[in-house]
Amino acid sequence: MAKLLEVNNLHTRFKVRNGYLHAVNGVSFSLDKGEMLGVVGESGCGKSVSMMSLIRLLPPAAQITEGEVLLDGEDITHASVSRVNAIRGSKVGMIFQDPMTSLNPFMKIGDQLIEGIVYHKKITKADALQQAAKYLKMVGISNAEHRLNEYPHQLSGGMRQRVMIAMALLNEPSLVIADEPTTALDVTIQAQIVELVKSLREKLNMSIIWITHDLSLLAGMVDRIMVMYGGYVVEEAVLDDIYKSPLHPYTIGLLKSIPSLKTEAGSRLPSIPGAPPNLFSQPTGCPFAPRCTYRVDRCQSEVPALTAVPGETGERPHRVACWVDMRGKGVKQ
Ligand SMILES: Nc1ncnc2c1ncn2[C@@H]1O[C@H](COP(=O)(O)OP(=O)(O)OP(=O)(O)O)[C@@H](O)[C@H]1O
Ligand SMILES: [Mg+2]
Repeated sequence: MAKLLEVNNLHTRFKVRNGYLHAVNGVSFSLDKGEMLGVVGESGCGKSVSMMSLIRLLPPAAQITEGEVLLDGEDITHASVSRVNAIRGSKVGMIFQDPMTSLNPFMKIGDQLIEGIVYHKKITKADALQQAAKYLKMVGISNAEHRLNEYPHQLSGGMRQRVMIAMALLNEPSLVIADEPTTALDVTIQAQIVELVKSLREKLNMSIIWITHDLSLLAGMVDRIMVMYGGYVVEEAVLDDIYKSPLHPYTIGLLKSIPSLKTEAGSRLPSIPGAPPNLFSQPTGCPFAPRCTYRVDRCQSEVPALTAVPGETGERPHRVACWVDMRGKGVKQ
């Protein structure tokens, strides 16, 4: 399959009062055209900052210090600001967590939807509104022409999230980055949005990066999963390999904390003991070592590199950053 995105050794840090907070520490991955990747990890592990770094949508205190991002072969990391602005919105669409903070409460839905296409595609307002209505229908909003004249507060939370999706898709981007797009919604609406994105992806052949802290949400939805911890990618493999044969102790811990049909009502699910790492200093060993029950001496002194091993399903290599061979339970050389 053709590659759409290639990210090599990306580092992003924040300038804070007494030094630097190292949010992204050498993230590398790629994404094929039409592929869907899930990015998971606990709060603060660098999911949002790494994905925002891809399109340089970062606050002023952030600096990308190393690495490169290639979208369709074009280097975004070193492109001009005007070029990156053109890429955002035309080639890349974003869906954020909270539609109420992303939509302007004083602007009609139609006007907000077409702002981007009028700017990027230079089409007339009437044509753009027609296009916007088409996308509102596609995301399941009935009476779309009428909704274009309404304001965000006149829509329900689920409808506002659908408007955000329509807005992200309107320019027919080749890549959509969805950052916890369903967290603020109730479970039924959440399931509807997941189904909607799945069907739109097939229809439009987009590549999607879906960020979540909920590993169970990704089942049956994504092709591959990338697990992050402390600003590092600690594991990445196709969905079945992550669910059925996880190789990183952190991923194993995350999977154990998902309720299954066998979980007895009222019983406590195991959580991973300990706290996420301090990102002010860079670790001398594996960032997960302090919380890891499989820890060996080497884990405290050397950061394990993300290394490819054959995947169980044979579809793609399985990448893992761990000194312990979780298949054989020995220590890697
Ligand atoms: N504007 C900022 N200034 C300083 N530090 C920041 C800023 N934004 C994020 N960080 C820090 O960068 C690290 C990574 O944050 P990020 O938002 O990527 O986490 P996340 O994995 O998306 O978490 P969540 O699941 O809570 O959204 C965190 O330690 C966070 O505190
Ligand atoms: Mg986030």
